[in-house]
Amino acid sequence: MKLITTIEEMQQAALSLKREGKSIAFVPTMGFLHEGHASLLREGRKRGDILVLSIFVNPIQFGQNEDLDRYPRNMEGDCCIADECGVDIVFTPNAPGMYPAGFQTSISVRDLSLPLCGASRPGHFDGVATVVAKLFNIVMPDVALFGRKDYQQLAVLRRMATDLNLPVQLVGMPIVREKDGLAMSSRNAYLSPAERQSALCLSGAIRKVRDLYATGTLEVADLERSARELIEAETAANIDYLEFRDGTTLESVQTAGNNTLMALAVKIGTTRLIDNTILGEEL
Ligand code: PAF
Repeated sequence: MKLITTIEEMQQAALSLKREGKSIAFVPTMGFLHEGHASLLREGRKRGDILVLSIFVNPIQFGQNEDLDRYPRNMEGDCCIADECGVDIVFTPNAPGMYPAGFQTSISVRDLSLPLCGASRPGHFDGVATVVAKLFNIVMPDVALFGRKDYQQLAVLRRMATDLNLPVQLVGMPIVREKDGLAMSSRNAYLSPAERQSALCLSGAIRKVRDLYATGTLEVADLERSARELIEAETAANIDYLEFRDGTTLESVQTAGNNTLMALAVKIGTTRLIDNTILGEEL
């Protein structure tokens, strides 16, 4: 496994690999890898001749009062997981390299960036789209893998890739959950043992809604009320949003059906967690 820290070296490596006719699979991350990332890497291993992992805590996707400074990091642990998953190149650029003085370009995927996390984290998806476009230009992947836990992120990035004719296939991978249902996230590391227990209300609300949907409750108002009741019973939990939207356009829906996205963000103490599910058939 090779460690590359500069943009120039990574771009040269990608160009030589392309010249040799090798395909590149790419998993962009902010590090502090867990089983969710490992599932992306394992799939990436199957889909490309060369597997590249990037680790970069991207400052421009964090808001002023967010957790950029305390975002968890563990380079050694990340390299162990990367090695186990068959990564060929770990690319770890730094912020001054990615955003040198004078940097002023931003990619904005307009409408898909507005609701849900975009409403509570203004500018977040512009930061994500911009860094991912840069990483694509540096790593030159044929295929890139993303987790569906960040459902809106994947929707935004798919739109960007289509709109800008980026020659890369985006693959969305299923949410990986702990045994008790909690969706895996690097931010779970912030939770105290008591908060970790409270955090089960997110997956609990999803389970409840899936059960109601399966037994014929389709009115979003009813589904939403049940989910809110379950979460509000948890004193440490504060709902940021809990919404039902079309899984492709992210437009609001009043009646659940195929491809209805239930998405939620809940603060457990000071930690903001997200989770989601698709009701019915995914389109
Ligand atoms: O999902 C993430 O970890 C980040 O948003 C990403 C895609 C690596 C961009 O910084």
